[in-house]
Amino acid sequence: MAVSLKGRSLLTLADYSPEEIRYLLDLSHQVKKEKKEGKTFQRFLGKTLALIFEKRSTRTRCAFETAFGEEGGHPVFLSTQDIQLGAKESVEDTARVLGRMFDAIQYRGFKQETVELLAKYAGVPVYNGLTDTDHPTQVLADLLTLEEEFGKLKGLKLVFVGDGRNNMARALMIGCAKMGVHYTIVAPKELHPDEALHRQCVSFAKSSGAQIRIGTSPKEELNGADAVYTDVWVSMGEEEKSAERIRLLRPFQVDSQLMALTGRKDSIFLHCLPAVKGNEVSVDVIEGPQSRVWDEAENRKHTIKALMLATL
Ligand code: CP
Ligand code: NVA
Repeated sequence: MAVSLKGRSLLTLADYSPEEIRYLLDLSHQVKKEKKEGKTFQRFLGKTLALIFEKRSTRTRCAFETAFGEEGGHPVFLSTQDIQLGAKESVEDTARVLGRMFDAIQYRGFKQETVELLAKYAGVPVYNGLTDTDHPTQVLADLLTLEEEFGKLKGLKLVFVGDGRNNMARALMIGCAKMGVHYTIVAPKELHPDEALHRQCVSFAKSSGAQIRIGTSPKEELNGADAVYTDVWVSMGEEEKSAERIRLLRPFQVDSQLMALTGRKDSIFLHCLPAVKGNEVSVDVIEGPQSRVWDEAENRKHTIKALMLATL
């Protein structure tokens, strides 16, 4: 049966089948190609998009705003400094009001439960632009970047090094498990992801053939990796954990020695950004020939446009 995502929200890729993710990636390649060829369309003409932000953002906000606006749509940025949500109005009421005025809603903030409530009450598609536990639109861009580089996803090996319990480590586990990318988290024991998510992803991986591993030693886990991924040691909202994280993660910095453990010259380095250079990644790696972080950032826009085209 042909895939249709009309009217769907994206709260987590756990809710999407491999065929649906495939559909979004194919559409992403298409919209990227159209953009490079200078083709313009008005596919969001007459449509409106609410962008709710409880946390800061450069890429996610700009990807949604530019992807929607350049196709004739009208995005409206709503910081929780300005709207009633979180101060005077409940999530449910906000959702019902925005759902009457907008064709879709993006939410970036703290709780996954908030984005779920928005989707439940809004009656229009809701997109998760990052919560404490997930970042599904980032993973779409990461998968697109891998596919551009290696021409496939199935059988690739991606190793995430760093805070293995954060939103990126978790979201990548879901996306890789669904799409057949072997995925390993390398992190100190204190920062391993929760068992329930691991179990869920192992069950997704049964049909895709991905191997999902959690380890503690870069030396033991990096060999043969196609891509090494890291993210900040201190995620938004966890600033008080800073000293402890630096202590735990110092030995896990992705530097040229760690990259060399892949044993491959053609392995690539990925990072969702923003990066703290000198913490999770050394300057020579992020600025070096193996880094694909700028392509990855650009791909946020193409994948987010594809998501909105598919669901609106
Ligand atoms: N990668 C990412 O989500 O970046 P922003 O925080 O700038 O949106
Ligand atoms: N783990 C990071 C991702 C930023 C895109 C954070 O939540 O701050």
